[in-house]
Amino acid sequence: MKIAVTDYSFDSLDFEKAILEPLGCEVVDAQCRTPQETMKLTHDCDGVISQYAPINADVIGAMQKVRVIARYGIGVDNVDIAAARAKGIAVCNVPDYCINEVADHTLALMLCATRCLVSDNANVHAGNWKASVPAPSMKSLDQCKVGVAGFGRIGRQVVQRLLAFGGEILVFDPVAPLADIEKSGARAASLDEIFGCDIVTLHCPSTDQTRKMVNAQSLAKMPRGAILVNVSRGDLVDSEALAQTVKSGQIGAAALDVLDEEPPPEKHPLLGLGNVIVTPHVASVSARSVRVLRESTAEAVARAVRGEKLLNVVNGVE
Ligand SMILES: NC(=O)c1ccc[n+]([C@@H]2O[C@H](COP(=O)([O-])OP(=O)(O)OC[C@H]3O[C@@H](n4cnc5c(N)ncnc54)[C@H](O)[C@@H]3O)[C@@H](O)[C@H]2O)c1
Repeated sequence: MKIAVTDYSFDSLDFEKAILEPLGCEVVDAQCRTPQETMKLTHDCDGVISQYAPINADVIGAMQKVRVIARYGIGVDNVDIAAARAKGIAVCNVPDYCINEVADHTLALMLCATRCLVSDNANVHAGNWKASVPAPSMKSLDQCKVGVAGFGRIGRQVVQRLLAFGGEILVFDPVAPLADIEKSGARAASLDEIFGCDIVTLHCPSTDQTRKMVNAQSLAKMPRGAILVNVSRGDLVDSEALAQTVKSGQIGAAALDVLDEEPPPEKHPLLGLGNVIVTPHVASVSARSVRVLRESTAEAVARAVRGEKLLNVVNGVE
């Protein structure tokens, strides 16, 4: 069987090959960036592993034998899962390789923003020890209302961590059972209430409902000086609107692990702003979690090769 790896950001595919080649698979790879490149690589394959390459309806339409598309990661927004479903191709993700690490990264970003860590560190290294006292934008989490959008695996871990800081925690999730939210120690709230919080943190997938959920209107509803944290997907936020509100002081700080364009162009509106902290989509890239991710993704395809029941199918195809 021929397995295509459409793109990857690792040095080699040694972990994947160690799982697939003993099963008689040939692993072919590329660094596809366009649907045309992806189509060329995958059309005659039996299985596909993908990181960010676009797998749209045209790419799926051209697939002659593919039984499974496995994504290196949790979000599957680079794959047209409805087109795959219509063609009987299972789409699998790896839902659990990095939950605690992404939750840790969320708190790290939140604390960097509330404690003004990045600017204070830069000031000291530039020879400026004297801090302004009192620091007007420094906040303590126990006095903040934190709004968590998305109460899935990562959102739940973020709530667990936030509880230790003692502030009020509000959660919006249109699907999660209210009882689960209340049991966690947070309070279930509407999306409007979330945007009334001092800090908003996003933990939902990129879907038609969530894209640009943070926009000029929602940012205007937030209390002046509020903080936005995003470790989910960059397209949940209207970057232009966020940049404007950071410049006006309506938003006190933004702390982001994801952007709507990755890597961002030099003139991206959120680059170069003092109160915007950006990490390059690294919340889940420790050596441990990347190894688990790569082996789990290869194993998802290996299950199909061995004719076993697939796990973590996100589009309902058995
Ligand atoms: N920065 C990173 O490196 C990184 C790593 C892993 C995951 N992620 C992103 O984080 C997201 C969340 O991961 P997860 O493991 O918690 O996923 P999950 O599927 O366990 O949880 C997502 C939650 O969002 C909820 N949701 C759906 N639509 C919503 C809406 N309109 N408003 C509020 N909530 C909504 C769902 O009901 C679900 O409970 C992923 O979709 C992925 O895009 C980022």
